[in-house]
Amino acid sequence: MGRVVASAPGKLILFGEHFVVKGYRAIATSISLRARVTVEESEGSWVELYSPTLGARSRVSLSLEEPVARELEVYVEILRALRREGYSIVPHRVTVESEMPVAAGLGSSAATSVAYTLAYTTLLGSPLQGDGLLRVSLEGEKVAHGRPSGVDNTIAAMGGTIVYRRGEKPVQVEARIPEGYTFIVADTGMKRSTRSVVEHVLGLAETLWDVSEHIYKASDALVERALEALRRGDMELLGKLMYVNHGLLVAMGASNLALDTLVNIAKASGALGAKLTGAGWGGCIVALARKGSEAETLARELSKHASSVRLVDIHVPGATVEELR
Ligand code: PMV
Repeated sequence: MGRVVASAPGKLILFGEHFVVKGYRAIATSISLRARVTVEESEGSWVELYSPTLGARSRVSLSLEEPVARELEVYVEILRALRREGYSIVPHRVTVESEMPVAAGLGSSAATSVAYTLAYTTLLGSPLQGDGLLRVSLEGEKVAHGRPSGVDNTIAAMGGTIVYRRGEKPVQVEARIPEGYTFIVADTGMKRSTRSVVEHVLGLAETLWDVSEHIYKASDALVERALEALRRGDMELLGKLMYVNHGLLVAMGASNLALDTLVNIAKASGALGAKLTGAGWGGCIVALARKGSEAETLARELSKHASSVRLVDIHVPGATVEELR
């Protein structure tokens, strides 16, 4: 009986969230927190799905017709998409785990979809990679979550760092992240709906377009400088740009007291940069610090006000098979 473990990274939006909704560029990067999916061939005629992270368990027959727990629907959709691509559906057990907090903007759901697609196709002896991996995992997400932008899936499948614009194919950034720096992700613990924040920001942008157009253009200029900083490995500049980006997001109404508190603590504790990441009104901030005592002080201070604090590397490899038996 075969067994495969595959993993895929989560993501952070480093620059340009919200501004990207109106056609300006954004930068996203993979992080060293991963989703891991174990797929084991089994006897019988079921696909058994289990997520200890979400506390959900369901099973579905090989015809993939019965309803399953809502949180697990995406995996059944992925199997349907694979069936359309000519893959057979065999009885197996799936265990889905994630190191990321869920619904915090870190791309946990996309990472599990990508890891499952890779694990299952590897179990069948013809691993899907590249565009195929992206296409199938995205089809699963579409049915389960509406209209995903595809950024989370792209990062989970390909890893690295991308610059993207709505409606265009993301482009990989040749980033150089020097040794000696770390990124810190601190979670407010507040769950939020991306859609409501996006609507709020768009409403403000449109009411005040004579003013907000400058903010949107400033964000795009900031993305240009950030690309330069990433290519050169200039972490001091990158940090400064993160603070500016947070300011622009505050101006557009995407922040809240919990996020501003964490960003201000990061600043007061010596972070090179900090900003909210993702939609805002909750979720996480990302801060940049030198490794060692600076990062430790920062993590300690942030943890007094955050529900979780994690030190992460960015620009890490995409989906990989970790174990194959
Ligand atoms: O928090 P997330 O990862 O869902 O990011 C939302 C990013 C936005 O720019 C606010 C929305 C979008 O669709 O790009």
